[in-house]
Amino acid sequence: MATVLGLESTCDETAAAVVADGCRVRSSVVASQVEIHAKYRGVVPEIASRAHIENVLPVVKEALSSAAVELRDIDAVAVTNRPGLIGSLLIGVTAAKTLAWALGRPLAGIDHVHAHLYSVALENPGFAWMPAVGMVLSGGHTSIYRVDGPLAVQLLGSTTDDAVGEAYDKVAAILGLGYPGGPIIDDLAQRGDPQAVRFPRTMLGRGSLDFSFSGIKTAVLYHVRGYQGRQHPDASHLSEQQIADIAASFQAACIDVITRKLQRALKKTRAKMAIIGGGVSANRGLRAALAQFQAPVVFPDLKYTTDNAAMSAGLADVKLRSGQTAGLDLDAVTYSQFQPA
Ligand code: KG4
Ligand code: ZN
Repeated sequence: MATVLGLESTCDETAAAVVADGCRVRSSVVASQVEIHAKYRGVVPEIASRAHIENVLPVVKEALSSAAVELRDIDAVAVTNRPGLIGSLLIGVTAAKTLAWALGRPLAGIDHVHAHLYSVALENPGFAWMPAVGMVLSGGHTSIYRVDGPLAVQLLGSTTDDAVGEAYDKVAAILGLGYPGGPIIDDLAQRGDPQAVRFPRTMLGRGSLDFSFSGIKTAVLYHVRGYQGRQHPDASHLSEQQIADIAASFQAACIDVITRKLQRALKKTRAKMAIIGGGVSANRGLRAALAQFQAPVVFPDLKYTTDNAAMSAGLADVKLRSGQTAGLDLDAVTYSQFQPA
């Protein structure tokens, strides 16, 4: 019976959560910086770090009070320490180390991508880990894994350029929509014709489990702005219906690629189920398409698809039970230094 306080600050959300027994989420607080970064249509790392400094203690306080616990009730402290923006990570890591040291409690360092995979187990006590294909679809990652348990995760393939969420955000910018683009395109796609425009499905080599999303992004750009992107300065010449059709067609191409990669990975691993986490796993079109899939596909509860600290606190429980504690020399590991497991 452990109560873990988790912290997450890899990118632009400052989050803290209290999780009991690895899956009972007693609180999950996320301070989003979306409004701050929206005017730049993407995350500005320096601004993100500064916002984390301001947010981290209030978020921890709120997580404790909404879980109705005090610091002394916390059995361990967890923090996502890799991979992410270095300035952002440092704030969460420093706060977590300080809390662990001051409270005399064990510390766990968590891999953000593994935490996204673990999110399927949150508030899902019946969830049974068995060999599965895992996918993390987010703004920073598009990767496929063989998952034999929460701590046994092996990378099979990943994106060679943009992450799928990044493509959603950039396509939304091309269409003159807001940030983050994923939820907006998801909504528009419900009203559009997915067959209106045939965007490319980049599958890479035969049997490849890697992804590429830069081609489709350029295809949308040329479709909107004309040959080599030079006919129109923006998307203002398009009607609302045309924009919805482009959104639906783009989304259909992404779902197609994801579905086919999932099929390849299941064939290769002979796993019998799939788990999908990360911000893009909230996508309604994707969930609907995979409801009829050849194998069961487990998604996290919607509130745990985008970045949160509950997934880190939950995974930390498993890690600590297996004796994997971190020292106070725990480092923040940025993307460029990161070697995926
Ligand atoms: O997992 P996440 O919060 O952050 C990273 O680890 O990167 O994912 C954020 C990404 C953004 O690119 C956002 O546009 C996308 O997830 N996203 C969606 C949806 N909701 C969020 N993409 C497609 N459909 C959605 N409903
Ligand atoms: Zn994430």
